[in-house]
Amino acid sequence: MRITIIPDETIGTIRPEIYGHFAEHLGRCIYEGVWVGEGSPIANTRGIRNDVAGALRALRPPVVRWPGGCFADDYHWQDGIGPRDKRPRRINVHWNQEPEPNSFGTHEFIDFCRMIGAQPYVCGNVGSGTVRELRDWVEYCNWPCRGTRRVPGAGADAGADAVRPYGSTLADLRAANGSPEPFAVKYWGVGNENWGCGGNFSPEDYCSEFRRYAGFMFNLGTPLFLIACGPSGNDVEWTRRFFAKLKKDYWDFGRIHGYAAHYYCGTAGSATEYSVDQWYQLLRQAAQMEPLVVQQRAAMDAFDPARAIGLIVDEWGAWHPATPGKPPLWQQNTLRDALVAALTLDTFNRHADKVVMSNIAQTINVLQSMILTDGAKMVLTPTYHVYEMYKEHQGGTAVRAIFEAEKIQFGSGADVHYLFGLNGSASLQDGTLTLSVVNPHATDPAQAAIRILGAGSFRIESARVLTAASIHAHNRFDEPAEVRPAETKMAGEGTDFGCVFPARSVTTLRIRAA
Ligand code: AHR
Repeated sequence: MRITIIPDETIGTIRPEIYGHFAEHLGRCIYEGVWVGEGSPIANTRGIRNDVAGALRALRPPVVRWPGGCFADDYHWQDGIGPRDKRPRRINVHWNQEPEPNSFGTHEFIDFCRMIGAQPYVCGNVGSGTVRELRDWVEYCNWPCRGTRRVPGAGADAGADAVRPYGSTLADLRAANGSPEPFAVKYWGVGNENWGCGGNFSPEDYCSEFRRYAGFMFNLGTPLFLIACGPSGNDVEWTRRFFAKLKKDYWDFGRIHGYAAHYYCGTAGSATEYSVDQWYQLLRQAAQMEPLVVQQRAAMDAFDPARAIGLIVDEWGAWHPATPGKPPLWQQNTLRDALVAALTLDTFNRHADKVVMSNIAQTINVLQSMILTDGAKMVLTPTYHVYEMYKEHQGGTAVRAIFEAEKIQFGSGADVHYLFGLNGSASLQDGTLTLSVVNPHATDPAQAAIRILGAGSFRIESARVLTAASIHAHNRFDEPAEVRPAETKMAGEGTDFGCVFPARSVTTLRIRAA
């Protein structure tokens, strides 16, 4: 097996936002996972769990998408501001009709983002909302309530500038609610899954809705990065039709910066019970992110050859069958999920010239989470550890890395499939190469010859590996470290290295110019 790294063949900057998160009002993600309230016996800061915030902060999370998901298109932001005991109670129609107390609203979300060092990404309500409602949310978040601004050419004398005060009823309301400084929210989603729970639009109708909403989301403080709803999975037809309509009727508009697909690789077996074949099957499903990105970006390039619009995948991950007795979409997270995450992040790194953000679903207690909580207890999942190991890729320059390995065959009879033998990505930052390598083989280590092409000599500085004795390994509250990264010995200097990647593992190497 061979891994060839070509540092001179640069792909693009790996935007930190590729390592983004998603937190929806669903199950125990927000309530219990993030928010416990100020009066809770669980240690908190202004109602936000300290343990969860601390663990997330350590990942250097660049961005968090909120409040949904399907929830977003039934969410009315005014419900979530002002004194908490006066906020209305609503029904979460999408997720088990659970009561929504609105205790966690815009201010609490911004507080959470600041605590963990992430940028907020707010998903607006197109399905059941109004243009005015979304435009006002932008003003509420971003318009300054104090200070002055200069308006060129609007002065009393010809050619002179005018100086006007900031402030508006909505900005003043934000100040009255405790936040005089604007939230400066840059990332805004114009609806969620508008082909489904966000209004069941056709691509053409959604395109017109996008234009209508986005048309009023400007000149309200912070310059915005507007994200349109993309396809369900790799539905290239949705993309072609959306962009054909955009090009034909609205191309001059230009106020679209990101286009977001959703892809869940699903399951094979259940969260914790699966055969070796099902282990491979899920990894193969996860690897479908590669053709999705390739085909979606090609479809976008046909309309936007200058690549002004970034591709985003703002929901992705494994989606296992419901766990009896647990809240909606709660699922355990094994070593297999860790490999799903690693393979997916490697795909995004390899397409750093087009993919500008991704948001794994979801941060805490829902789907492929970073963290599980139970009352005051918290456990970090194997997926968390992949994010922690891969954080060195954030902001690096993705460089070409070619993985050559024999394919793994699985299944039987007419149902035989193949999975690549080794996979990964490489990036360069401040003279250090970060190489991430996934060995999906359930039982066999992979011996690989690594070659770095071009001038210069390198030295392996450190290597960390995430693996476990069993393909089913996972972390529990009473055994929280069954899957965790460990330093491993991989040494060498020059341009050629021999490394052994353990079976069922994710490895990150830090290789420095010597
Ligand atoms: O992440 C769970 C749900 O999956 C989201 O609410 C929705 O957007 C998607 O279908």
